[in-house]
Amino acid sequence: MKCSAAVLHGVNQDWSVEEIEVDPPKTGEVLVKWTHAGLCHSDEHMVTGDIVPPDEALALMGSPGLFPAVGGHVGSGIVVEAGPGVTNVAVGDHVSASFIPSCGTCRYCATGRQNLCDQGAGTFLPGMITDGTSRHRVGDTDLMLFAKLGTFSEYSTVAESQVIKVDADLPLDVVALVSCGVATGWGSATKRADVRPGETVVVVGIGGIGINAVQGAAMAGAKRVIAVDPLEFKREKAMEFGATHTFASMEEAMPEVMELTQGQMADKVIMTPGVLYGDMMALGTGLAGKGSTIVVTALGPITQTESSVNLFELAMWQKEIKGTIFGSLNPRADIPNLLSMYQEGTLKLDELITKTYPLAEINDGYAAMRDGTNLRGVIAHA
Ligand SMILES: NC(=O)c1ccc[n+]([C@@H]2O[C@H](COP(=O)([O-])OP(=O)(O)OC[C@H]3O[C@@H](n4cnc5c(N)ncnc54)[C@H](O)[C@@H]3O)[C@@H](O)[C@H]2O)c1
Ligand SMILES: [Zn+2]
Ligand SMILES: [Zn+2]
Repeated sequence: MKCSAAVLHGVNQDWSVEEIEVDPPKTGEVLVKWTHAGLCHSDEHMVTGDIVPPDEALALMGSPGLFPAVGGHVGSGIVVEAGPGVTNVAVGDHVSASFIPSCGTCRYCATGRQNLCDQGAGTFLPGMITDGTSRHRVGDTDLMLFAKLGTFSEYSTVAESQVIKVDADLPLDVVALVSCGVATGWGSATKRADVRPGETVVVVGIGGIGINAVQGAAMAGAKRVIAVDPLEFKREKAMEFGATHTFASMEEAMPEVMELTQGQMADKVIMTPGVLYGDMMALGTGLAGKGSTIVVTALGPITQTESSVNLFELAMWQKEIKGTIFGSLNPRADIPNLLSMYQEGTLKLDELITKTYPLAEINDGYAAMRDGTNLRGVIAHA
């Protein structure tokens, strides 16, 4: 079938909305009509090249390169066709995308760490998770699908391990948000940082991810949730989602956190800026006190290997720095659970959406992300 999709032909280019061809699903695959896609910073890293591996690294992986690629790893939609052997979902089911596959049987899935599922290993390789062949083309050229999902297309064929059935009563725009930013931010606070009642938590960078780390830290009972972002709009939003204090920079926050905590500093620091450069970790870890945890959720440039952490303090103050993918949650259990919290009225989701765009205006949506005028922008497919 033919449909419209936002395609990226190379680094530093605009998203190009054009017609692509999508093949029907084979064994273990489903064709999804995506109704919504979220504009997350991770796709923007493809545009800037921050997460595009160098050519030599791609060659070592056996990858011919990432472009042309259909963007979008955040989304929701409806299953319109199921290939042979599909058992998790059926035609007509409403689904959330899951940029982390969960096969259910690998060592990581089997030990409750679906966010580390082995099926995620082929992210930079072309073709389907199922058999390595491609189902998507522009002209005669095979397309990569970002996170093997491609939610910036009206339709795509994906492995069944990458869709999760959700309640059909739920609005699909909020389902899309939960599929990445909400889960990642909320899990960064509640699971990876393991925020406890009475703690002091600093969240650095209040985008679609950070705002949900604020929401998660507040729900977990933090005494102080300190949000750091240079943009006033983001700081105001943070207060609406449970922040108790806000600052425009880590430099500005440093003496204030010291005073607020009588020198003890934060128990947990969660790093969620748009791009995490290595030199930001001196202040990020500096805001954290004895026995603290610093969670690295944001992505740094893929080739950056230096970070400015004071190793003496790391050892003597017994600090812990932890990475996280998907907030260390289990997509198959936690996406439905977060959505049921929304239905119960305990999780804010509608308030995350600042603006909805048709696919044709995707570049305006990303311009708004760069300008910081959207908490989250959402694409509504026709
Ligand atoms: N680990 C994961 O599984 C995962 C999943 C999704 C996204 N991410 C990453 O999380 C990061 C955040 O994504 P997003 O979509 O929320 O981005 P976003 O662009 O919506 O928001 C980023 C925010 O950080 C702020 N910021 C930038 N520099 C800052 C600084 N020095 N100090 C304080 N704030 C600063 C910006 O003003 C902006 O409000 C990105 O790197 C993204 O790729 C990680
Ligand atoms: Zn994302
Ligand atoms: Zn698995």
